[in-house]
This record gives sequence, structure tokens and C-alpha cells, in this order.
Amino acid sequence: MKVTVVGAGAVGASCAEYIAIKDFASEVVLLDIKEGYAEGKAMDLMQTASLNGFDTKISGSTNDYAKTANSDIAVITSGIPRKPGMTREELIGINAGIVKTVSSNLIAHSPNVILIVVSNPMDTMTYLVHKTTDLPKHRIIGMGGALDSARFKYRLAEAMEAPISDIDGMVIGGHSDTGMVPLTSHATRNSIRVSEFLSEDRLEQVAADTKVGGATLTKLLGTSAWYAPGAAVSALVQAIACDQKKMFPCSTFLEGEYGLNDICIGVPVILGRNGIEQIVDIPLSDTEKNKMQESAAGVTKTNSLLSL
Ligand SMILES: NC(=O)c1ccc[n+]([C@@H]2O[C@H](COP(=O)([O-])OP(=O)(O)OC[C@H]3O[C@@H](n4cnc5c(N)ncnc54)[C@H](O)[C@@H]3O)[C@@H](O)[C@H]2O)c1
Repeated sequence: MKVTVVGAGAVGASCAEYIAIKDFASEVVLLDIKEGYAEGKAMDLMQTASLNGFDTKISGSTNDYAKTANSDIAVITSGIPRKPGMTREELIGINAGIVKTVSSNLIAHSPNVILIVVSNPMDTMTYLVHKTTDLPKHRIIGMGGALDSARFKYRLAEAMEAPISDIDGMVIGGHSDTGMVPLTSHATRNSIRVSEFLSEDRLEQVAADTKVGGATLTKLLGTSAWYAPGAAVSALVQAIACDQKKMFPCSTFLEGEYGLNDICIGVPVILGRNGIEQIVDIPLSDTEKNKMQESAAGVTKTNSLLSL
């Protein structure tokens, strides 16, 4: 199993590290446009192999896509991250050009690749890949919901003073401060609804804190976060590589599901060796349906900024 990660920056390197530590891929290629950067990160990571006990071979490449040839899975993290006070949508101008070039280079060298798009604004970048390449939709996956759901579970566990392993919950919708739809009514602690433990006000606070999870970290760090994003990407890569059939909310092209068309947005999907093997169309409450419609309107507005 060969995995390429484009962008050897904060998220790309973290993602490569988690993939290596989980030791399910034979090879990870890190590629970056900055001279020597990916080679340096790859060498540093390889020097953790004997310490962390993995056999995955990590190599680096300065913009040479021949080294990525025949990748099974490729992750696109190349592009600029946001700075404090910025929205993800403000990154569109620079990142759209990068994502378009990178995706076409990847596909030229790995025609059977499954692409995972991470660069922001992620739903719009996923839509861009859908519109500008010939890849079938089950091989174009946007990562956002897996991270947002991990942040939701963190906030729920914090509010209930419970271990995170007790908590289950999911965030669907657009990967933006206003677009996320935390499915509070479906969240549970050991199969008991979280509303049995937390007041409506506290649950609203949890949902609000989840939605600004990325912005909170960007303010603290001065740039956007990388550990949880890298871990979330590695979980998607593992689900595909190991044919796990696991369910994650991912951005995918919708054709009628959730009443939406011609948009990539976060909904629950099953991931296996073919990429997105099923879109899970769960019934939503009227409030959740309205939030999903509002979220989709926001993503469509950002999509309209693309010159397709
Ligand atoms: N979807 C999510 O949940 C999520 C989470 C966190 C970050 N992000 C996004 O991921 C992206 C990367 O974030 P980061 O913190 O790793 O940024 P970073 O600046 O640390 O790394 C980005 C890397 O991309 C490289 N790059 C730029 N143009 C390139 C090109 N044409 N080809 C190859 N490499 C190129 C840069 O040299 C840099 O090393 C940002 O757009 C950020 O907003 C998304």
C-alpha cells in the first residue's frame, strides 16, 4: 500500500507520522514544493522508526511526481493555512490554484488513486477536484467531519467529565465555523443520549465550541492546528487501506442525498478499499434539516468563487 502526502507542512507531516506509527502502509511519499523540505521531514520521521517500532518506508520529494507513481491513496494538504481572525473561505484564491495543479499531477502518475482533500476551504476544494478531474466520485473524499467529530467528542467529554472513549457523536455539514452541524440529538454516552446528562444550554455551548474548534486553536497557535487534523486524515487512510468499512462524516459529491445536489459537503459515508463505498442517508430532525440547508447554501456561495 503506497500513500502519497502532498504538502510536508504541519498537517502533512503529522498525517505521515500517524500513518507510519500505525504501521499499515508499506510506503509513504511526502511531496512539497519547498526545496529539500519533504526530504528533510521524511528523513527525520524515518529516524523515529526504530524508536516507534514501524517498518513503513517514508521518503521525500521536491515536486517530483514520478516518485508518487502508482500511489493507492494520496492526501492533499498543500496550500496556505489560516492565520488568527481569518476564515477558511479566505484561503480560496491561493489554494484553488494549488489544489487543481496538485490533483492533476497526482492522477497523471497514479490513475487509480483515491484522493483525500484536506486543503481549505475543504468542501470547495473537494468540489473543485470533482469538477476538474475525471475521477469517479467515490475516489474523491474531503476530510473535515472526522476532525470536527473528534472535537465534538472532546467537548462533550469535557462537559460531562467523562472519558472520551464513552462518547459517540458526529458533525456533518460544511467544514466551516458557521457550516458545521453537530448532531447533538444523536450523540450518546454508552448509548444513552447526552441530553440525559447535559442541559439544553450546556449542549448548545458544546455545539458552539465545536464549531469554532479550529478558530480557537488558530488563535492559540498563531496558525491552524495539525495533530488532530493529521490523526483524522490517518484514520481515513487506514479505513481505506485496511478495507475497514468504517463510517466517518466526509465531504462527498451529493446527488439527491440529504435533499442536496451538485455540492460536496460532509455526510456520513462508509470507507473501504474502493474509497467511499456508501453514502449513509440518515433521517434528520426538521431543525437539523434546516441547519444542513443553511450550511449547503454557505458552501455553494464559496463554490461560486471558483472559476470553473
Ligand atoms: N480539512 C481540515 O480539517 C483541515 C485541518 C487543518 C488544516 N487544513 C488545511 O490544510 C492546509 C495545510 O495546512 P498546514 O497547517 O499543514 O499548512 P503548512 O503551511 O504548514 O503546510 C502547507 C505546505 O504546502 C506546501 N505547498 C504549497 N504549495 C504547494 C504545491 N503547489 N505543491 C506541493 N506543496 C505545496 C508548502 O510548502 C507547505 O509546506 C491548509 O489549507 C489548512 O487550512 C485543513
